[in-house]
Amino acid sequence: MELQNSGFEVVIIDDLSNSRIEVLEQITEVTEIKPEFHQIDLRDKKAVYNFFNENKIEGVIHFAAFKAVGESVQKPLDYYENNINALVYLLQEMKDRNVDHFIFSSSCTVYGQADKLPITEKAPIKLAKSPYGNTKQIGEEIIKDSCKAYNMNAIALRYFNPIGAHESIKIGELPLGVPQNLIPFITQTAAGIREELAVFGDDYPTSDGTAIRDYIHVVDLAKAHVKALQRLLNKQNKENFEFFNVGTGKGSSVMEVIKAFEKVTQQPLNYRIAARREGDITSAYADTTKANEVLEWKPQETLEEALLSAWKWQQKQS
Ligand code: UFG
Repeated sequence: MELQNSGFEVVIIDDLSNSRIEVLEQITEVTEIKPEFHQIDLRDKKAVYNFFNENKIEGVIHFAAFKAVGESVQKPLDYYENNINALVYLLQEMKDRNVDHFIFSSSCTVYGQADKLPITEKAPIKLAKSPYGNTKQIGEEIIKDSCKAYNMNAIALRYFNPIGAHESIKIGELPLGVPQNLIPFITQTAAGIREELAVFGDDYPTSDGTAIRDYIHVVDLAKAHVKALQRLLNKQNKENFEFFNVGTGKGSSVMEVIKAFEKVTQQPLNYRIAARREGDITSAYADTTKANEVLEWKPQETLEEALLSAWKWQQKQS
């Protein structure tokens, strides 16, 4: 929708394995422009080939990937097959047809537990803790090598923790089954779908003992993609492959998120302290100076606004 708002003609490819076709109607209701849609599994090399044969594409934003950390430990080959093959097939087609301008959904997971906070883009890439995280690291490497060899231009956006719903409350997060992430678990608990929220650990070395993350409103995140694409299309990039942190710069603990949610929604939340979740880091929040200055992008929404939108979205579902 942010691309459409900025005048781009949008073509969506999705295999609908983790999304619903109704989303197209919801986008159309908000923007009054129906995006073109192709149901394609990016692992289907022939289908990707045909798509590029039939469509004149100026740039690609590659969001499509599996993204559950825990699941990736159980099903590593699914993650490598999907996240890596899809990326390679896309880049091959782009290279073969001289389609340039590639934006990649990367993740702050590439930094692991950074030694210094806030995390700048100069922080070293740490050994991945999960196959999911590894696919993001390998993905960045594949793009870097491709940019060098084929003179392509790409930007990786390293997302911190995206949350919230569009202000129209027509587009939001739809986790399948039991949510793994904090915010949908909170909203489902408040809605009575889940009995209680388990707070994973209160013995971290933080001010209240719970883990700290940088929660960014998904619409702010979307706007960063528009800026990144415009940077490439306008040939403003300084290097073939650039990467940016996309967060708010503010860290919030799990308890702070719970308190903020209770305050803005006036909903008391049933929660209990539980053991730490395996693989979780203590604290991650972004230094966003590079994105602020180079992309001329700044998040506009607060944690409270993001939580309220997530709650309104939840209420619409139940
Ligand atoms: N948490 C709870 N209870 C829950 C769910 C989460 O206490 O029921 C806590 C977690 O322990 C963590 C925080 O809330 O401290 C945030 O957890 P999320 O699962 O929402 O997010 P993560 O930071 O673990 O994961 C996110 C993305 C991943 C990405 C990762 C990078 O979901 O895709 O950041 O660090 F890889």
